[in-house]
Amino acid sequence: MSTGDEMAKATGTRRFRRAGLAGLLACALLGPAACGTKQSPGAEAGGAKRITLGFAQVGSESAWRVANTKSIKDSAAAAGITLDFQDGKQRQENQIAAIRRFIAEKVDVIAFSPVVSSGWDEVLQEAKDAKIPVIVTDRAIDTTDTSLYRTLLGSDFVAEGRKAGQWLVDRDRAGAKPVRIVQIEGTTGSAPANDRRDGFAETIRSDPRLKVIDSRDGDFTKAKGEQVMKGFLARHPKIDVVYAHNDDEGLGAIDAIEAAGKRPGRDISIITVDGTRGGLTALAGGKINFVVECNPLLGPQLMDAVKKVVAGQTIPDRVVTDETAFDQAKAKAVLSGRQY
Ligand code: AHR
Repeated sequence: MSTGDEMAKATGTRRFRRAGLAGLLACALLGPAACGTKQSPGAEAGGAKRITLGFAQVGSESAWRVANTKSIKDSAAAAGITLDFQDGKQRQENQIAAIRRFIAEKVDVIAFSPVVSSGWDEVLQEAKDAKIPVIVTDRAIDTTDTSLYRTLLGSDFVAEGRKAGQWLVDRDRAGAKPVRIVQIEGTTGSAPANDRRDGFAETIRSDPRLKVIDSRDGDFTKAKGEQVMKGFLARHPKIDVVYAHNDDEGLGAIDAIEAAGKRPGRDISIITVDGTRGGLTALAGGKINFVVECNPLLGPQLMDAVKKVVAGQTIPDRVVTDETAFDQAKAKAVLSGRQY
């Protein structure tokens, strides 16, 4: 990873150049009285420069993502950080274009949540060459060069998949019949899809009766979840369990199961990940059986990391979000206070 000193030097240089130009302009327009007393654009009382953060978001595919975006926007405003926010509409090329724009506009810090995990080295090298620090949030990237970003803030998706699998192993421990599982995966190539699939597979392996009989990409959306579930129901005469990689896909699956004349949560059990209000409401109402939490409220942690990086302080390479899981009773207990 590049050192905090390099960073402080880089932002210091940019700050000096911008403040110098603004000062000259103020003197020219307002006369000598303005010289030395006017604040330069982006400056705050006391001389501290306002930090600009460029953030490239995945999209708005799920209730989780909407809550994540709100957390980032609210936290930036509360922290006094200028946020340049770009929605990637679930396309990597849009996120890469946004990062290139942030570099050209010389933001102080770049943060992003990568839609897929591979293919970031080139653009992150460009950010590094421009001496702009990068923070990865929510989803990990695949790279052998860890100097390309300062930290990864977000969930342990493998642990989430393990929790989902462990709940099923424990619930069906006493059963004798085979358990036919269908899996609605998250976006192909994304860290949460890969890790939730692997964590789940690793855990259910301990019980040979538990078998994933089909697995398809639901792209983390309700519409795709419903479509994929319709396909499963058409192809497989007997399905016991749906494991959906997020609540939205699970809610789509509920619609498909009901349209097929079956009872979600009873004829077919459903496990999801996220813990949004929609997911927990379905759990409390008995249509979902278990929800693993994935916390979207990463904004405060991100702004804290941004300020530390700009100040040249060292931050940990990885910050893992604290998370739990919900059964029906726990969902009922937390629902009224759920923010998202
Ligand atoms: O990366 C986090 C995942 O992305 C959430 O589980 C999902 O809802 C979102 O779209």
